[in-house]
Amino acid sequence: MPFKKDFLWGGATAANQIEGGWNLGGRGPALTDVTTGGTVSEPRKITYIDKDGNPGFITRLQKLPEGAHYAVLDDCLYPNHDGIDFYHHYKEDIALFAEMGFKVFRMSISWSRLYPTGMEEEPNQEGIEFYRNVFRELRKYNIEPLVTIWHFDTPLYLEETLGNWKNRELIDLFVKFARTCFTEFRGLVKYWLTFNEINNTINFLPDNMPDEAFQEAYQHLHNQFVASARAVKIGHEIDPENMIGCMICGITYYPHTEDPKDILFNRYKWEKGIFYCGDVQCFGYYPTYAQKLWNEHNVKLDITEQDLIDLKEGCVDMYTFSYYMSMSVTTHKDAASASGNMVRGTKNEYLQYSDWGWAYDPDGLQYYLEMIYHRYERPLMVVENGLGAFDTVEADGSIHDEYRIDYFRKHIASMKKAVENGVDLWAYTTWGPIDLVSAGTGEMRKRYGFIYVDKHDDGTGTMARSRKDSFFWYKKVIESNGEDLD
Ligand code: BG6
Repeated sequence: MPFKKDFLWGGATAANQIEGGWNLGGRGPALTDVTTGGTVSEPRKITYIDKDGNPGFITRLQKLPEGAHYAVLDDCLYPNHDGIDFYHHYKEDIALFAEMGFKVFRMSISWSRLYPTGMEEEPNQEGIEFYRNVFRELRKYNIEPLVTIWHFDTPLYLEETLGNWKNRELIDLFVKFARTCFTEFRGLVKYWLTFNEINNTINFLPDNMPDEAFQEAYQHLHNQFVASARAVKIGHEIDPENMIGCMICGITYYPHTEDPKDILFNRYKWEKGIFYCGDVQCFGYYPTYAQKLWNEHNVKLDITEQDLIDLKEGCVDMYTFSYYMSMSVTTHKDAASASGNMVRGTKNEYLQYSDWGWAYDPDGLQYYLEMIYHRYERPLMVVENGLGAFDTVEADGSIHDEYRIDYFRKHIASMKKAVENGVDLWAYTTWGPIDLVSAGTGEMRKRYGFIYVDKHDDGTGTMARSRKDSFFWYKKVIESNGEDLD
């Protein structure tokens, strides 16, 4: 059997994409609560009121105008406000995960549910109770929670008043939040991830952005590295059983041509996009190539002596990552472009693409697993993998999602090969085991789930849950510990 006897099969979600209840139970707002829906071609917008009281919009890469405040506008639709209402449906959802045989469920904690502005001295007890109830419900079915402390989810107050992660003050505020999580949920949770897809801060930035944007992004990352390291140390002190991981957006980069310039360019892509964050969090210091990356954009980081000690003392126990696709890159100007999960590159003629343009490449997962394991030699978890697709509900309510089964079948087969080749893989949590709000586009129709949720992009729907064909298929996969993929 290639997969370990106690291999953790399950699914992964994020608070802001499933919970809803955005203003219930004492929760404060986060950036997603002032972010509208979008599509593959129409970016999501962030809404505000300017200093003269006029409404306005910015996109993710733009700055809030001077004197403006983030605001919920009357005539906009905010898909994350209701999510899929996990806040009220969690018992039903967990029962469905248990029916599939889940061993693990990845979820995140909304920072502003515990600390509504991020500045409070004491956490919001109602928020703590909510998560305790969810963890107890999971434990009732012997499902291990795997908890992401930060999944793109900073309290809006901190975004607006402190300028988010470019400000060092966020480190202490995050550490307070993380300490609360480790203390309050001790004995209920032992698998933790500090920052979701931490490398995206750099990956999202187009190369032609001004140096100032890179200065902020690298400082933002440095502050998160330190916050993560300090959280890891505290997590171990509070409970030595805790296993705490980094979480990297895993993209397998390929050179588009055999031009040596492309081969070198591709290697640099791995360093900047993938290794930079993994190296700091796994090895506890900046790699030698970091200086080259900073020089490219005249970046000067504010790094204290204590930061360097913290990084060293707070190395992660495991490396976890998302994997959706590979990306080809080139120095040649004439290649057809492709993009997905916010990264840009070129079209690979050997691959097929989803309706949202994401490459379909199971071999890339094997490549990534083997490459990363040989670099870090510590336990790995694939904590996101999945296909966002349109689903059709038949007249009798059934949903025949063979395309999704095919995607998972091939990716699990690739994982199996990597494990046979010596990779120490502990877990596989598919992204969105239940349909949820897309992070990139805010859509519901980009569905990932084994479980269908009757909610639509215009905000209508009953929120009723139903089983797709893939639900029964994944149940069989789990029952057979990954042997039966038919
Ligand atoms: C990952 C994120 O980038 O990809 C998730 O961690 C996200 O939050 C997932 O939902 C899929 O992306 P999208 O844009 O299809 O929701």
